[in-house]
Amino acid sequence: MSFRTLWFEDGALHLLDQRQLPARAEIVIVRSGRETAQAIRDMVVRGAPAIGCAAAYGLALATTSGEDFAQARSTLLDSRPTAVNLRWAVERLSAVQPRTFETLKAEADRLLAEDLAACKAIGRHGAALVPDGRGILTHCNAGGLATAGYGTALGVVRAALEAGKKCAVFADETRPWLQGARLTAWELLQDGIPVTILPDGAAASLLGSGKVGCVVVGADRIARNGDTANKIGTYPLALAAQAASVPFFVAAPTSTIDLRAQSGGDIPIEERPPAEVTHLAGSRVAADGVQVFNPAFDVTPARYISAIVTERGVARAPYERSVPALAAG
Ligand code: MRU
Repeated sequence: MSFRTLWFEDGALHLLDQRQLPARAEIVIVRSGRETAQAIRDMVVRGAPAIGCAAAYGLALATTSGEDFAQARSTLLDSRPTAVNLRWAVERLSAVQPRTFETLKAEADRLLAEDLAACKAIGRHGAALVPDGRGILTHCNAGGLATAGYGTALGVVRAALEAGKKCAVFADETRPWLQGARLTAWELLQDGIPVTILPDGAAASLLGSGKVGCVVVGADRIARNGDTANKIGTYPLALAAQAASVPFFVAAPTSTIDLRAQSGGDIPIEERPPAEVTHLAGSRVAADGVQVFNPAFDVTPARYISAIVTERGVARAPYERSVPALAAG
């Protein structure tokens, strides 16, 4: 990959500022748990696995910035509610003993390396499912920008292309934050992979056209029964894929599985500020005084998911059995 999403250097966490892409590739440097939490909340860094990796470094930084560890831990946990990788990473780092900068930084490094390896394995498992010679449709950004590198859904895309499959890549623009138009398109083009973006509302027409052989999306939290929270707009995409008889795949590391959530109803859904909907690039486009519903995620019921691809292999229905089995390792 021709860019880095997050890395630790000179005693600080460096984040590629995803709010500025594709116009500018700027780096934000954070030096404490509090600053890391702020960067996660403000979406400097986003995407479930990348948020987890950033939080891990944030906890390591908390040991050098004079912060109270428990306070830093709870500020990080509160920064974004839906991606369970955040809680997973914070719990993993909290268990490290003795609790020094060196031990926590080493664990954060391991977590980052494991996430990259998981994405490569997800890519290998997922590439086998991708039909050759047909399009792949994705939503949001589940790429290198959302992970330690390579990506989950985009890892499947990359691995399918690396395996020689001929697949046109389609990306929903992903209103309102435009992760598809701004981030997925940028990251694929950086790597020389052609991509066509489309308005979210055009996905059903594209699926009905026969050009798409499968949909591949990432996940923010997968419940025990396979219900999957991902970027808002994923659920209607799954419905449209089912109507068009196109397989719908979820690609995610096992760190995204939350066995404490029995079903999608147990997954907290973040609501984002109204301005993300009422404004475009800082200019107001909606009438003054209008009310806004802006959930950042939706839950796709497991019955619409053809398979869940993890680094440990592929889960299929009945997910009540296959998801806990994969999570157990
Ligand atoms: O609000 P975001 O941009 O953090 O949402 C990201 C997504 O919904 C991704 O699809 C998900 O985190 C998987 S990233 C590999």
